[in-house]
Amino acid sequence: MSERHGAGHGLTDHELSEIRMLIEERTGIHFDESRERFLSMRVREHMHERGYGRVSELLRAVRKTNVEYDSLLERMLTQETSFFRYPAVYEAFEKRVLPEIHVSKFWKNPRTLRVWSAGCSTGEEPYSIAITIADSLSFADAWNVEILATDVGKLALKNAEKGIYSGRSLSGVNEKQLAAHFTKVENKFHVKPRLKKMISFAPMNLAAPVYVGRMDLIFCMNVLIYFTEERRRALVQRFYEALEPGGYLFLGHSESISKMPVKFQAIVLGDCILYRKPTVQEQQKAELVTEGRA
Ligand SMILES: C[S@@+](CC[C@H](N)C(=O)[O-])C[C@H]1O[C@@H](n2cnc3c(N)ncnc32)[C@H](O)[C@@H]1O
Repeated sequence: MSERHGAGHGLTDHELSEIRMLIEERTGIHFDESRERFLSMRVREHMHERGYGRVSELLRAVRKTNVEYDSLLERMLTQETSFFRYPAVYEAFEKRVLPEIHVSKFWKNPRTLRVWSAGCSTGEEPYSIAITIADSLSFADAWNVEILATDVGKLALKNAEKGIYSGRSLSGVNEKQLAAHFTKVENKFHVKPRLKKMISFAPMNLAAPVYVGRMDLIFCMNVLIYFTEERRRALVQRFYEALEPGGYLFLGHSESISKMPVKFQAIVLGDCILYRKPTVQEQQKAELVTEGRA
């Protein structure tokens, strides 16, 4: 017999672990001990709202239909986000990365900048990226900017596509940016079409490899922390392969890939670390040095 887990929530350890395994298998999201309370609270809330008396009924329904699975998954996601969540990252993006891209790609034909916001939640991250590009990339309108913004949470994506914001999530947006990129309608701020045109939102599960084409920049902030080590490694390797040589990977503050075997160059800029994929010449040079040593 499995023990009742914690005080008074009526779920056994075994039941919780079945749900944990189901979510982990399908999405890579890992609920370790520190997130056990969160998991059991969300499962109870879900069962109450959907009228399930027993976990076995919930599991049966979730395994049978995608609608039931999606609805359970939505409740398990942590989707906290805000505009310009880590100012130091956007400063590095503006002052280091965009000027570098301008130099290396401005005279290329087509003049395209491809960015992936992987785990974009309700859209604040891709819109912050778009604002930074619009305001700081030289001759921004002469570029073909394509931002792919993906998330496994379909409700979050719906809100992202609407692009209507208010309150705390906007606290990182300054007056000038608000005036330039939003239209105020009854105390809410609507993202203007110029930014919206740069972004395509799409549902995507990062645990299932999907071809996205080559990217110049990948932002995957505060997503890897929820994954198992194995998934993290696989995903970082996929990001490496998807990036153009000279491209950058941006991670959240508490996410480090220093112990992983991928060949990113870690660039420390003040408060943040950027991961750069070496150019082909840099990769060849590194290989020659290694051969020389052997
Ligand atoms: C904490 S939010 C981070 C949002 C934004 N990147 C930021 O830093 O503000 C994490 C996001 O990752 C998404 N996510 C979690 N697991 C995922 C998966 N397997 N595939 C795609 N997105 C996932 C969640 O739905 C959520 O929107």
